[in-house]
Amino acid sequence: GDSSFMPPAWPKLSSRLMNPPAANPARPRVYLETYGCQMNVADSQTVSAVLRRAGYVSADRAEDADVVLLNTCAIREHAEEKVLHRLRELARLKQSRPEVKLGLLGCMAQHNRVAIMEKAAFLDVVAGPDSYRRLPEMLGRAGDNYNASIDVRLDRAETYADITPDYGGGVRAYVTAMRGCDKFCAFCVVPYVRGRERSIPPSDLMREIGELAGRGVKEVVLLGQTVNAYRFGDTGFSALLKMIASIGGIERIRFMSPHPGDMSDSVIEAMATEPKVQPHLHLPIQSGSDRILAAMERGYTVAEYLDLVARVRAAIPGVALSTDIIVGFHGEEESDFEATTAIMRAVGYDSAFMFKYSVREHTRAFRLGDSVGEEEKGRRLIALIALQEEMSLARNRAMVGREFPVLVEGPARRGGGMMAGKTPQFKTAIFAADTAAVGTAAGDTVNVRVDSATGHSLMCSIA
Ligand code: SAH
Ligand code: SF4
Ligand code: F3S
Repeated sequence: GDSSFMPPAWPKLSSRLMNPPAANPARPRVYLETYGCQMNVADSQTVSAVLRRAGYVSADRAEDADVVLLNTCAIREHAEEKVLHRLRELARLKQSRPEVKLGLLGCMAQHNRVAIMEKAAFLDVVAGPDSYRRLPEMLGRAGDNYNASIDVRLDRAETYADITPDYGGGVRAYVTAMRGCDKFCAFCVVPYVRGRERSIPPSDLMREIGELAGRGVKEVVLLGQTVNAYRFGDTGFSALLKMIASIGGIERIRFMSPHPGDMSDSVIEAMATEPKVQPHLHLPIQSGSDRILAAMERGYTVAEYLDLVARVRAAIPGVALSTDIIVGFHGEEESDFEATTAIMRAVGYDSAFMFKYSVREHTRAFRLGDSVGEEEKGRRLIALIALQEEMSLARNRAMVGREFPVLVEGPARRGGGMMAGKTPQFKTAIFAADTAAVGTAAGDTVNVRVDSATGHSLMCSIA
């Protein structure tokens, strides 16, 4: 294949204006909207590369496109509802322009294909996460005979290793290192919608990241649902981290999401000894109750998790920890919930993603039921969020007066001449752009001192 070919950026508004919409454009325009996690964002860059090679150009809005694709998420009911809502809007678009092809991609396509076809009979294409290579031919077939083109075969060999995703720009790039998940946590749909674990060969990752470095990327985030379970032949995750650290131009390495059960001593050692691997670890705990962890089939106890946290903190001074937590899993009693708040206090996370349990069809927990009412889940979630905000604020305030190297990303969202970037711990640092100072442009690393903090960001001055 032409895997070493690096794509130019897709045409922006100005070039599209020079090339106005036509009834039957030679190069069909595709609009792609992405839901869900970073892995879906990375997959959309692969989809984009596949379609660009097949002659498609990008559109910035569904209204301007010949093909509209939604890359979807099935992790919680709410994620699916958002997509169904969007599909109802797009149904109106298709009513006014019946020639528009509408496609549903990703995890929801895989999860709910039958129900989706019933709900949205106007879909032209339904493609699961392992079918993107075939999208051009599927789109070619779609609409031939009023039957949607459906491809939801999971393929344990598909890694898209030879397809260089369309890089979205910026100083940080997200790179898929492994696909799928073999853990089968009782609540989770991912193993069913993404299939078996498979790792991308190190040589392909080295090539892709080397090319990204050549395009100005300074920080790479390796992605996988259990990214630290990475293994290709003799290369495990710690060896991969060290290999990537040898790439010139790449200054920072991060990864998402490691599973506590795969957090080996060698990975901790790689984090501790390889300066490019940043001191931040996302370590999803899900619950602080052993009884619930067992029912979730997470594969660790609270004591084992806390022991891991202690080893990580001993090896990597100043490491930031973040986590994922589910409230209201089937059977969660008030005492289990209190155990979760206790472990949050015991660990002192820098940040946390917290969710109400959502029963998912096909999962092992589906048959168990849903014993905690919606209102009670809401109460528990609100309490957890309040606790975490308090702790995030305290942890960020403890940074006041300290200095950190910040990789500058660009102007801060709040404007006013402020710049933003991330500290090694992945905290957002905001500082006044000092034009007299060297190194305050995107991609530069600048030393800042923390002046004040909120729960979400650090206000800094150049040190
Ligand atoms: N692979 C990662 C998690 C990926 S999904 C890991 O194991 O750590 C991201 C988060 O969504 C999970 O950590 C979990 O907290 C949440 N989640 C997954 N399934 C869920 C469900 N059925 N209901 C509510 N939250 C869920
Ligand atoms: Fe889901 Fe568990 Fe796999 Fe994470 S490790 S993706 S929670 S099954
Ligand atoms: Fe959602 Fe699929 Fe990611 S279910 S969280 S988009 S792997």
